[in-house]
Amino acid sequence: MMGTKYPLIMAAFAGLGRTEFAASFSNAGGLGIITGLNYKIGNFKSELIKMKKLTDKPFGVNLTVLPPGVRTFDPLSHVSKEDYFKYLEIAIDEGIKVFTTSAYQATHLGERIKEAGCFWFHKCALLRHAISAEKAGANAITLIGMEASGFKNPFQHTTLMNITLAKRLLKTPIIAAGGIGDARGFLGALGMGAEGVCLGSAILTTQESPASKEVKEKWLKMNVLSEDYHRKLYHRELKSTNVLSAAIAHQKDSFSMNELIETMMDEAGEILKSWGFTGDNITLTS
Ligand SMILES: Cc1cc2nc3c(=O)[nH]c(=O)nc-3n(C[C@H](O)[C@H](O)[C@H](O)COP(=O)(O)O)c2cc1C
Repeated sequence: MMGTKYPLIMAAFAGLGRTEFAASFSNAGGLGIITGLNYKIGNFKSELIKMKKLTDKPFGVNLTVLPPGVRTFDPLSHVSKEDYFKYLEIAIDEGIKVFTTSAYQATHLGERIKEAGCFWFHKCALLRHAISAEKAGANAITLIGMEASGFKNPFQHTTLMNITLAKRLLKTPIIAAGGIGDARGFLGALGMGAEGVCLGSAILTTQESPASKEVKEKWLKMNVLSEDYHRKLYHRELKSTNVLSAAIAHQKDSFSMNELIETMMDEAGEILKSWGFTGDNITLTS
């Protein structure tokens, strides 16, 4: 659908989802996403122009719709309701073809995105929101499991329940998000019925990630098995978590984005071979 080499889409990141980082994801074969609200409206157009110089591969723009009453990350809190349409029109004028919306109801934006002939991917945490997004005409729906970093919903299911149930209930292509950080997670998501896989925490320690070296080192050493970590990730309140998801535990070092994605895809290929897949065929061995 997107013309990318791999069925991978980059997550939205307040503060970190910047142009150069998104370009590295596109150049590595996935769909790089610029988190639009990281830029002031006046600077947004020049970032899109920059992106087109950094990659000739497909990419998109995220518009995170801040839920009313939810205290959010500072980098995004400058945006008014009307501003979203300003970002949208700038991106449409610059020829952007894919938009992801997230965090809250975004039908008003989706309508304009589709009217402009672009793809609208909506990300949500609950199946009932996914059903509403399908009714509203989203071209793909990202479902975030409770394993994920970012905004949490107290009624969220796991990635496994989200995707397998969504596969029964939706006709729209599904993108799996939440806790995916290696080849097995990637293949597992496709096995559950996802057409695409969203990478969030897993890519934040790459060399191209704008996080500082110190922060990346701290993330790489994070103990995802501790009770304190578990409490912070699965807090079950309507707010964002302040830790990365356990997808980070699959990262052993700060690799380049290309190395991380190629390794994941190579390993997925090896696993498929070990299961008996060769090319388009499967050979079952006893
Ligand atoms: C540092 C950070 C910032 C994030 N900021 C946003 C955001 O601004 N908007 C959004 O929709 N999701 C945001 N998310 C959530 C991700 O887009 C994605 O849904 C999540 O990372 C997927 O789960 P994973 O981390 O297990 O891969 C953020 C996640 C992290 C780790």
